[in-house]
Amino acid sequence: MLPKLIKYILSENPQSQETEVSGWVRTKREMKNLIFVEINDGSCFAGIQCTFDRSAGIDKQTEDSLSSLTTGASVKIKGKLIPSPASGQSVEIAASSLLVLGQAPAENISGKNPALDIQAYPLQKKRHSLEFLREIAHLRPRTNTFSAVARIRSRMAYAIHRYFKENDFFYLHTPIITAGDCEGAGAMFQVTTLEPSGEIDYSKDFFGKKTYLTVSGQLEAETYATAISRVYTFGPTFRAENSNTVRHLAEFWMVEPEVAFAELEDDMALAEDFLKYIFSSVLEECADELKFFDSHVEKGIIENLKGVAEAKFSHITYTDAVKELEKASAGNKNLFEFKPGWGCDLQSEHEKFLTEKIAGGPVIVTDYPKEIKAFYMKLNDDGKTVRAMDVLVPRLGEIIGGSQREDNLEKLSGRIVETGMKTEDYSWYLDLRRYGTVPHAGFGLGFERLIQYVTGMANIRDVIPYPRAVGQAGF
Ligand code: 4AD
Ligand code: MG
Repeated sequence: MLPKLIKYILSENPQSQETEVSGWVRTKREMKNLIFVEINDGSCFAGIQCTFDRSAGIDKQTEDSLSSLTTGASVKIKGKLIPSPASGQSVEIAASSLLVLGQAPAENISGKNPALDIQAYPLQKKRHSLEFLREIAHLRPRTNTFSAVARIRSRMAYAIHRYFKENDFFYLHTPIITAGDCEGAGAMFQVTTLEPSGEIDYSKDFFGKKTYLTVSGQLEAETYATAISRVYTFGPTFRAENSNTVRHLAEFWMVEPEVAFAELEDDMALAEDFLKYIFSSVLEECADELKFFDSHVEKGIIENLKGVAEAKFSHITYTDAVKELEKASAGNKNLFEFKPGWGCDLQSEHEKFLTEKIAGGPVIVTDYPKEIKAFYMKLNDDGKTVRAMDVLVPRLGEIIGGSQREDNLEKLSGRIVETGMKTEDYSWYLDLRRYGTVPHAGFGLGFERLIQYVTGMANIRDVIPYPRAVGQAGF
């Protein structure tokens, strides 16, 4: 039997029942004959208070263990569950025995073998900076912030699967190793078993050709959407972009629904409905965590999420968005670092301005110039713009990028050639347009950006357990 988690013990009716709790020590305090030890097991925010009463008699082993007990030690405590006289908690354990499973020394310990030296447990009861905690990413889940992020991340992943299941999407596992560049952006990590030396003959490589880690499962998802109608992928994707920002990772998780018989408007409606479902789920299922983020990380985040879950998302075309940006920039020359203009990609500062100042909430920008978007997006009748849509949110800018796909064979192969790629490489993808082609659409949501939005965590490296970024692949 697995031990009972603290979140369940805390909601029990205290009737002096025998209880056992396992966890890590957060604090130890002494007051006359009483010793209070707070134990946390990460199942929820709250720890449980275990009170040892010397006047009621404590056995020798427990007394010895208590005297050397430090923050971070792992313990098993037995006692009776009673109503707590202290404020802020309804129950506590009147403890009778303490077993220390593992110490966490508060001071450095060194001996003959330096490999076995122990530095003082770095997570003492005080506030640590996020930068410091990033350096000890293997221990940071023992803090309130990172255990809360971990719980929210897991529950959100589950809510995402639930949403798609309830809406008749099939979960599709697309390959991690691919030969093609879905986004045509050339920001891929190569996969090879060859030792780099001189001219490399990739026909001798493991797969007999050059291969990469996937940047997106979209193209493969399209092959299944045009067979079983509604699919989604949810997996790791990799980008070798040299962008050292608070919203880029080299390895991130992407959620990509793909729907047959759907156009851009359907795609936008799906994205909005999906996001609102996730926000409502988090509000309901992660109330304690959100309260924590609201008071310690980003004030007002709960009210904001509630508002967004109710309100209609604004829509604006790229062309109108650029007009707004130009107008704002004309009135204040120093507003933007990058000058906005039709044909230029929206910079993160432009995206934030549009969502925060123009829309005052999430906004979906559509119909971007074809030159700044991927080859697979459906060309509009103007011949200049494509059926693209990006969902922008305050604080972050883009969290979703999607489009209606080009379903016309000539136009698609034209775009492949125009963007400098070879039609032979995409022959299988073009087959979808050769045989039973249909209008179809989909989008990609950056899972970490969604978590940033929901928690208010400013740096994307703090919402994934082990961030991979330029120059960073520790642990
Ligand atoms: O806009 P992107 O590049 O779109 C695609 O990859 C499409 N194939 C998706 C599709 O239509 N199926 O990426 C989608 C989202 C972005 O909006 C962003 O949230 C996230 O993925 N993203 C990143 N997140 C973290 N680090 C990065 N380097 C990211 N690049 C994109
Ligand atoms: Mg994008």
